[in-house]
Amino acid sequence: MNYLCPSILAADFWELGREIELVEKAGAPYLHIDVMDGMFVPSISFGMPVLASIKKYTGLFMDVHMMVEQPQRYIEELIRLGADGVTIHAEACDCIPETLTKIRQSGAKCGIAVNPETPVSAVMPYIAMVDMVLVMTVRPGFGGQKYIPECMDKIKWLRGVVDENYPDVKIEIDGGVTLENLEENLDAGANVIVAGSAIFHGDITANVKEFLRRM
Ligand code: DX5
Ligand code: ZN
Repeated sequence: MNYLCPSILAADFWELGREIELVEKAGAPYLHIDVMDGMFVPSISFGMPVLASIKKYTGLFMDVHMMVEQPQRYIEELIRLGADGVTIHAEACDCIPETLTKIRQSGAKCGIAVNPETPVSAVMPYIAMVDMVLVMTVRPGFGGQKYIPECMDKIKWLRGVVDENYPDVKIEIDGGVTLENLEENLDAGANVIVAGSAIFHGDITANVKEFLRRM
Protein backbone atom coordinates (compact mmCIF):
# COMPACT_ATOMS: atom_id res chain seq x y z
CA MET A 1 0.00 0.00 0.00
CA ASN A 2 1.29 3.46 -0.94
CA TYR A 3 0.34 6.72 0.75
CA LEU A 4 0.36 10.22 -0.71
CA CYS A 5 1.44 12.87 1.77
CA PRO A 6 0.99 16.46 0.51
CA SER A 7 3.37 18.92 2.16
CA ILE A 8 1.69 22.18 3.19
CA LEU A 9 5.00 24.03 2.99
CA ALA A 10 4.08 24.66 -0.64
CA ALA A 11 0.53 25.84 0.14
CA ASP A 12 -0.67 29.43 -0.16
CA PHE A 13 -0.96 30.30 3.53
CA TRP A 14 -3.69 32.84 2.90
CA GLU A 15 -5.75 29.91 1.65
CA LEU A 16 -4.37 27.19 3.91
CA GLY A 17 -7.67 25.83 5.22
CA ARG A 18 -9.27 25.70 1.81
CA GLU A 19 -6.25 24.03 0.24
CA ILE A 20 -6.10 21.34 2.93
CA GLU A 21 -9.80 20.72 2.36
CA LEU A 22 -9.07 20.22 -1.34
CA VAL A 23 -6.35 17.62 -0.76
CA GLU A 24 -8.56 15.80 1.73
CA LYS A 25 -11.59 15.77 -0.58
CA ALA A 26 -9.43 14.57 -3.48
CA GLY A 27 -8.50 11.53 -1.40
CA ALA A 28 -4.99 12.09 0.01
CA PRO A 29 -4.65 10.12 3.26
CA TYR A 30 -1.80 12.02 4.95
CA LEU A 31 -0.75 15.63 5.45
CA HIS A 32 2.95 16.48 5.81
CA ILE A 33 3.79 19.28 8.21
CA ASP A 34 7.34 20.67 8.09
CA VAL A 35 8.44 22.27 11.34
CA MET A 36 11.73 24.24 10.96
CA ASP A 37 13.65 26.10 13.62
CA GLY A 38 16.19 28.20 11.70
CA MET A 39 18.98 26.20 13.37
CA PHE A 40 18.82 22.62 12.12
CA VAL A 41 17.90 24.12 8.75
CA PRO A 42 18.41 27.73 7.63
CA SER A 43 14.72 28.54 7.33
CA ILE A 44 11.84 28.92 9.78
CA SER A 45 8.41 27.60 8.83
CA PHE A 46 5.63 27.32 11.41
CA GLY A 47 4.88 25.51 14.63
CA MET A 48 2.41 24.63 17.34
CA PRO A 49 -0.44 27.12 16.77
CA VAL A 50 -0.64 26.22 13.09
CA LEU A 51 -0.72 22.52 13.90
CA ALA A 52 -3.48 23.03 16.45
CA SER A 53 -5.61 24.97 13.96
CA ILE A 54 -5.22 22.34 11.25
CA LYS A 55 -6.17 19.54 13.63
CA LYS A 56 -9.49 21.19 14.42
CA TYR A 57 -10.67 20.97 10.84
CA THR A 58 -9.16 17.90 9.24
CA GLY A 59 -9.20 14.16 9.76
CA LEU A 60 -6.02 13.66 7.72
CA PHE A 61 -3.15 11.81 9.36
CA MET A 62 -0.83 14.61 10.53
CA ASP A 63 2.71 13.57 9.63
CA VAL A 64 4.99 16.02 11.42
CA HIS A 65 8.56 16.34 10.11
CA MET A 66 10.75 17.95 12.75
CA MET A 67 13.65 19.83 11.14
CA VAL A 68 14.60 21.09 14.55
CA GLU A 69 17.59 20.70 16.84
CA GLN A 70 16.96 18.78 20.03
CA PRO A 71 13.41 17.79 18.99
CA GLN A 72 12.91 15.89 22.24
CA ARG A 73 11.87 19.23 23.77
CA TYR A 74 8.63 19.32 21.80
CA ILE A 75 7.30 15.77 21.58
CA GLU A 76 4.60 15.86 24.23
CA GLU A 77 3.18 19.15 23.06
CA LEU A 78 3.16 18.13 19.40
CA ILE A 79 1.20 15.02 20.18
CA ARG A 80 -1.15 16.83 22.53
CA LEU A 81 -1.92 19.23 19.68
CA GLY A 82 -2.72 16.40 17.30
CA ALA A 83 0.39 15.06 15.58
CA ASP A 84 -0.36 11.48 14.52
CA GLY A 85 3.21 10.77 13.54
CA VAL A 86 6.43 12.55 14.45
CA THR A 87 9.67 12.11 12.52
CA ILE A 88 12.96 13.31 13.94
CA HIS A 89 16.34 13.54 12.20
CA ALA A 90 19.18 11.14 12.99
CA GLU A 91 21.43 14.24 12.84
CA ALA A 92 19.38 16.34 15.27
CA CYS A 93 20.11 15.10 18.76
CA ASP A 94 22.15 12.64 20.78
CA CYS A 95 19.13 11.07 22.42
CA ILE A 96 17.37 9.44 19.49
CA PRO A 97 16.23 6.20 21.18
CA GLU A 98 14.74 8.02 24.16
CA THR A 99 12.97 10.46 21.88
CA LEU A 100 11.52 7.72 19.67
CA THR A 101 10.31 5.89 22.77
CA LYS A 102 8.71 9.08 24.03
CA ILE A 103 6.86 9.57 20.74
CA ARG A 104 5.49 6.02 20.89
CA GLN A 105 4.57 6.24 24.55
CA SER A 106 2.72 9.47 23.90
CA GLY A 107 0.55 7.61 21.42
CA ALA A 108 1.91 8.60 18.01
CA LYS A 109 3.81 6.81 15.24
CA CYS A 110 7.51 7.58 15.11
CA GLY A 111 9.97 8.05 12.29
CA ILE A 112 13.67 8.59 11.79
CA ALA A 113 14.94 10.80 8.95
CA VAL A 114 18.30 11.02 7.17
CA ASN A 115 19.67 13.95 5.20
CA PRO A 116 21.09 13.36 1.72
CA GLU A 117 24.69 13.42 3.00
CA THR A 118 24.02 10.99 5.85
CA PRO A 119 24.50 7.31 4.98
CA VAL A 120 21.22 5.46 5.18
CA SER A 121 22.89 2.86 7.41
CA ALA A 122 22.69 5.53 10.14
CA VAL A 123 19.09 4.44 10.73
CA MET A 124 20.04 0.85 11.54
CA PRO A 125 20.47 1.34 15.30
CA TYR A 126 16.86 2.59 15.45
CA ILE A 127 15.04 0.66 12.75
CA ALA A 128 13.48 -1.84 15.15
CA MET A 129 11.99 1.07 17.11
CA VAL A 130 10.32 3.04 14.30
CA ASP A 131 7.19 2.95 12.19
CA MET A 132 8.82 4.82 9.33
CA VAL A 133 12.17 5.85 7.87
CA LEU A 134 12.28 9.14 5.98
CA VAL A 135 14.88 9.36 3.23
CA MET A 136 15.38 13.04 2.36
CA THR A 137 15.72 13.42 -1.38
CA VAL A 138 16.71 17.12 -1.20
CA ARG A 139 18.64 19.07 1.44
CA PRO A 140 16.03 19.87 4.06
CA GLY A 141 14.86 23.43 4.59
CA PHE A 142 13.13 24.52 1.41
CA GLY A 143 10.43 23.34 -0.94
CA GLY A 144 10.75 23.42 -4.70
CA GLN A 145 14.24 21.92 -4.99
CA LYS A 146 15.40 19.30 -7.48
CA TYR A 147 15.38 15.64 -6.50
CA ILE A 148 18.93 14.38 -5.77
CA PRO A 149 19.24 11.21 -7.93
CA GLU A 150 21.92 9.60 -5.71
CA CYS A 151 19.28 9.20 -2.99
CA MET A 152 17.48 6.53 -4.96
CA ASP A 153 20.11 3.92 -4.10
CA LYS A 154 19.39 4.57 -0.43
CA ILE A 155 15.71 3.84 -0.97
CA LYS A 156 16.53 0.58 -2.77
CA TRP A 157 18.96 -0.52 -0.08
CA LEU A 158 16.48 0.27 2.65
CA ARG A 159 13.68 -1.57 0.84
CA GLY A 160 15.84 -4.70 0.92
CA VAL A 161 16.49 -4.36 4.65
CA VAL A 162 12.87 -3.61 5.46
CA ASP A 163 11.46 -6.46 3.38
CA GLU A 164 13.83 -8.90 4.96
CA ASN A 165 13.43 -8.01 8.61
CA TYR A 166 11.06 -5.12 9.31
CA PRO A 167 8.08 -5.55 6.97
CA ASP A 168 5.88 -3.06 8.84
CA VAL A 169 8.30 -0.15 8.54
CA LYS A 170 7.24 2.42 5.96
CA ILE A 171 9.72 4.19 3.69
CA GLU A 172 8.95 7.86 3.16
CA ILE A 173 10.64 10.13 0.64
CA ASP A 174 10.61 13.90 0.79
CA GLY A 175 11.82 16.51 -1.66
CA GLY A 176 11.63 17.09 -5.39
CA VAL A 177 9.04 14.38 -6.02
CA THR A 178 7.02 14.97 -9.20
CA LEU A 179 4.71 13.00 -11.47
CA GLU A 180 7.77 12.46 -13.66
CA ASN A 181 9.90 10.66 -11.06
CA LEU A 182 7.08 9.11 -8.99
CA GLU A 183 7.13 5.73 -10.68
CA GLU A 184 10.86 5.11 -10.29
CA ASN A 185 10.64 6.05 -6.63
CA LEU A 186 7.78 3.63 -6.06
CA ASP A 187 9.75 0.96 -7.91
CA ALA A 188 12.77 1.72 -5.73
CA GLY A 189 10.62 0.91 -2.71
CA ALA A 190 9.25 4.16 -1.28
CA ASN A 191 5.66 3.89 -0.03
CA VAL A 192 4.95 7.21 1.69
CA ILE A 193 5.30 9.92 -0.91
CA VAL A 194 5.68 13.51 0.24
CA ALA A 195 5.04 16.14 -2.41
CA GLY A 196 4.80 19.90 -1.90
CA SER A 197 5.14 21.92 -5.08
CA ALA A 198 3.84 19.11 -7.27
CA ILE A 199 0.57 19.12 -5.32
CA PHE A 200 -0.03 22.71 -4.22
CA HIS A 201 1.14 24.56 -7.32
CA GLY A 202 -1.51 24.54 -10.01
CA ASP A 203 -4.78 22.61 -9.79
CA ILE A 204 -4.61 20.93 -6.37
CA THR A 205 -7.51 18.54 -6.89
CA ALA A 206 -6.23 17.42 -10.28
CA ASN A 207 -2.70 17.01 -8.93
CA VAL A 208 -3.80 14.83 -6.01
CA LYS A 209 -6.00 12.69 -8.23
CA GLU A 210 -3.26 12.17 -10.79
CA PHE A 211 -0.72 11.19 -8.09
CA LEU A 212 -3.24 8.76 -6.57
CA ARG A 213 -4.08 7.27 -9.94
CA ARG A 214 -0.40 6.50 -10.52
CA MET A 215 0.19 5.03 -7.09
C1 DX5 B 1 11.89 20.22 2.65
C2 DX5 B 1 10.63 19.70 3.27
C3 DX5 B 1 9.68 19.11 2.29
C4 DX5 B 1 9.16 20.06 1.24
C5 DX5 B 1 9.08 19.30 -0.05
O1 DX5 B 1 12.79 20.52 3.63
O2 DX5 B 1 10.92 18.70 4.23
O3 DX5 B 1 8.61 18.44 2.93
O4 DX5 B 1 7.89 20.59 1.54
O5 DX5 B 1 8.74 20.19 -1.06
P1 DX5 B 1 8.82 19.82 -2.59
O6 DX5 B 1 7.91 18.65 -2.81
O7 DX5 B 1 8.36 21.06 -3.26
O8 DX5 B 1 10.26 19.47 -2.89
ZN1 ZN C 1 9.30 17.42 5.02
